[in-house]
Amino acid sequence: MSLPPPQCVLVTGGAGYVGSHAALELLRAGHQVIIVDTLERSSGEAIERLRRIGDIEFIQGDCGDPEIVAQPLSRADTVMHFAAYARVEESIECPERYQHNNVEVTRSLLKSAIKAGVSRFIFSSTCAVYGSPGPEHLPVTENAPMDPQNPYGDTKVQAEAVLAAASAPHPFATGVLRYFNVIGADADGALAEPVVEARLLCACLQAARGERDHFTINGTDYDTPDGTAVRDFVHVTDIAGAHGSLMTALEDGQHLVCNVGCGHGTSVRDIVQAVEAVCGHPISVVEGPRRPGDIPATWADTTRIRETLNWSPRYDDIAAMVSTSWNADRA
Ligand SMILES: NC(=O)c1ccc[n+]([C@@H]2O[C@H](COP(=O)([O-])OP(=O)(O)OC[C@H]3O[C@@H](n4cnc5c(N)ncnc54)[C@H](O)[C@@H]3O)[C@@H](O)[C@H]2O)c1
Repeated sequence: MSLPPPQCVLVTGGAGYVGSHAALELLRAGHQVIIVDTLERSSGEAIERLRRIGDIEFIQGDCGDPEIVAQPLSRADTVMHFAAYARVEESIECPERYQHNNVEVTRSLLKSAIKAGVSRFIFSSTCAVYGSPGPEHLPVTENAPMDPQNPYGDTKVQAEAVLAAASAPHPFATGVLRYFNVIGADADGALAEPVVEARLLCACLQAARGERDHFTINGTDYDTPDGTAVRDFVHVTDIAGAHGSLMTALEDGQHLVCNVGCGHGTSVRDIVQAVEAVCGHPISVVEGPRRPGDIPATWADTTRIRETLNWSPRYDDIAAMVSTSWNADRA
């Protein structure tokens, strides 16, 4: 089987959690990587770690600034656009900032990419575009109604629409990946899962390491098998792999939207049990009330990505996913 030829890929937000893991897999596959990141949501540590793996080019700046991206875009075959603000609570407090960074920056970058003659543009979207799908929509297909429940999800719906409407000379093609709940870290410890306390696994691991007194389960009275919220957890390296598969599979002129998940639900209690199994001791758990805006359950129908991209998750076991975060944290 012949390998696809190496590409030059502009990775926006490549110093962040998902973008850095995608950059890592691109480097390992022999592609050329240019990262543009403001570093406002990341420390630059991932850039240093990536430099130990391969020859990346890093430009600190805003990917919505046409002057900053013009030169790298003139060399890029593909753009992978991870840069965004991605915190739900913050989006409710500052919707204008989210509107600018997630929609207007995407519009500007897309325009610059088309002008530069880039042929592929891949966008990071989220299951938040579906909001709180009713039981009749589970598992969630890409055709489920779009009903975001917060400004973050709304900006992703808008940015997707900008991509869908993009008209550009052949062979320009666009891809949208709607990630479900991303967890884990590179299994070889090349990168870690960043410490973001609002992230469920991060908080649970902190409790396991004794860095916080306890882990709080928000809501134990949902209509789910064990009463806690149910999500579709997918490993960050599998998300990175989905980008690579999409980059090579996109056909000229195509616009393709795919869910990326494992295709089944895992409860918050399942996560606690997985963390306990990985760290080897019980953790202190407090049962708290539901958080406003949290949804009871969602998981993906992954038929489209499996059939169209021949992609399937390498990690399908929650303890295996958790162990990569635990080990990388201690690397
Ligand atoms: N992590 C998840 O669970 C998850 C789930 C669904 C979708 N997503 C999407 O995946 C993408 C990456 O998420 P993440 O978790 O890695 O976030 P992150 O905050 O770790 O990384 C985002 C990176 O983008 C940079 N950035 C932000 N605005 C920028 C701009 N205008 N120009 C250049 N750099 C900019 C930040 O400094 C940061 O390094 C986002 O688009 C997010 O909406 C993430």
